[in-house]
Amino acid sequence: MRDKYSGLQIGIHWLVFLLVIVTYTAMEIRGFFPREYRPAFNMVHVSGGISILVLMVARLLIRLKRPAPPIVPKPKPMITGMSHLGHLVIYLLFIILPIIGLVMQYSKGSPWFAFGLTMPSASVANFKLADTLKEYHGFLANLGYWVIGIHAAAALAHHYYWKDNTLLRMMPRKRS
Ligand code: HEM
Ligand code: HEM
Repeated sequence: MRDKYSGLQIGIHWLVFLLVIVTYTAMEIRGFFPREYRPAFNMVHVSGGISILVLMVARLLIRLKRPAPPIVPKPKPMITGMSHLGHLVIYLLFIILPIIGLVMQYSKGSPWFAFGLTMPSASVANFKLADTLKEYHGFLANLGYWVIGIHAAAALAHHYYWKDNTLLRMMPRKRS
């Protein structure tokens, strides 16, 4: 049995971590800049969000084929159950949130860009749907802060309090 996640899983985990920072930051700071910069911030945001969606689906498929490496010493069953539930919530949240963003953008019916490319939009705008999705998107994004915060705190608790190998399993291998 392997003692770590695979290099690919570790790489995707920390790449998504960076993309999450970029995607949130683009939205949080865009208001501090003159209006002409807004399209650039929006493009960084949606490009980051779409990349997160693709990577989360990819890693979920990999994870379904490859069980997580064992944690040593083995945590209490309740902690293991809570971790599994927490990971499921993260997968669902960071897949549903960008999908809502995509449908919201599409339904606005106006031109928008990701990765420098023009993206498809509805020929007839549905502003009612776009407004509803905007609320869901904002709510789930705020929930995401809490979920990631708890996830990171749990990882640190495993490392420093329970002193098991949970965090080390998600760290890049040292070159030998
Ligand atoms: C995991 C990925 C994503 C995260 C964490 C995220 C997070 C956020 C956050 C925090 C906001 C600000 C909400 C507010 O001020 O109430 C926001 C707004 C927005 N997001 Fe996302 N988002 C993601 C993916 C996407 C995607 C894929 C799209 C579109 C393709 C998108 C489109 C938008 C738009 C258009 C807004 C601005 C809404 C407005 O103020 O009119 N987002 N997002
Ligand atoms: C400081 C930030 C973070 C730390 C310290 C951290 C640490 C970890 C660790 C140690 C694990 C392995 C847990 C286990 O196997 O029980 C893990 C798993 C996971 N992390 Fe993170 N993480 C961070 C941020 C993120 C972010 C931003 C996301 C995604 C939005 C994320 C998504 C996941 C997911 C989905 C798993 C489950 C992997 C599996 O399928 O087994 N993490 N993380």
